[in-house]
Amino acid sequence: MTPEFTILGRGRAGRALAAAWGPRAALLDHGARPEGLVLLAVPDRALERLAAEFPGRCVHLSGSLDLPGAPCAHPLTSFDGRARDWTGTPLAITGAVPDGLRRAFGDLGFVAFDLPAELKPLYHAAAVLSSGHAASLWLGAESLLRARGVALPGRGLLPLAEATLRNVAAHGAAGRTGPFVRGDEATIARDAEALPEPWRQIFLNLGRSLG
Ligand SMILES: NC(=O)c1ccc[n+]([C@@H]2O[C@H](COP(=O)([O-])OP(=O)(O)OC[C@H]3O[C@@H](n4cnc5c(N)ncnc54)[C@H](OP(=O)(O)O)[C@@H]3O)[C@@H](O)[C@H]2O)c1
Repeated sequence: MTPEFTILGRGRAGRALAAAWGPRAALLDHGARPEGLVLLAVPDRALERLAAEFPGRCVHLSGSLDLPGAPCAHPLTSFDGRARDWTGTPLAITGAVPDGLRRAFGDLGFVAFDLPAELKPLYHAAAVLSSGHAASLWLGAESLLRARGVALPGRGLLPLAEATLRNVAAHGAAGRTGPFVRGDEATIARDAEALPEPWRQIFLNLGRSLG
């Protein structure tokens, strides 16, 4: 089977998508110069220079960057180099992504929607807030406990996080729980006092951010 297009860049995104597409896509390093449609899976800082090598026949994957002349298909997920089940995962389309590539993403379960170029940084910041920053909060909470010798048994913080996400997915903001939602000011003050900076300010600012 001749590949329909080439992925350039064998990082987390490139390897994961290539594994899922199989023979539909070729996977090459960023120094290759193949014919046909090219999907650029390289760090954002390298995109502009590389896109100039494939005028009119490349698509990139960056959620934040808008490159005039190079359309984008941004999968709203966190890749780890492996094929996963991406059913229901949004795919932000900016510019004229060729139909064949849209179909290829759709076949993996991605759900395309149009994202205006000027909204990309806001969209990407929202993605970082809800994923990378959520991971930083998680890892920070674990290390705060570990530093004071508290080792949670069983699955640790995971059941709490799962229950919270399940409740919020089902009920939106009404699914939140905790002292900020209940307005337990004495509890908030006691808990904040137990935290070193910068965690104390993060705790208070985040808690009050949704009112
Ligand atoms: N990771 C995610 O979860 C995710 C999710 C959505 C979108 N994206 C987007 O996907 C793109 C790739 O992200 P990634 O996480 O896969 O990156 P990555 O894991 O850091 O890998 C990028 C690959 O690009 C190549 N590369 C490294 N330095 C380069 C340079 N200076 N110039 C050109 N190519 C270089 C390397 O592959 P070779 O050695 O094979 O050339 C490297 O493995 C980015 O635009 C990112 O915004 C990523």
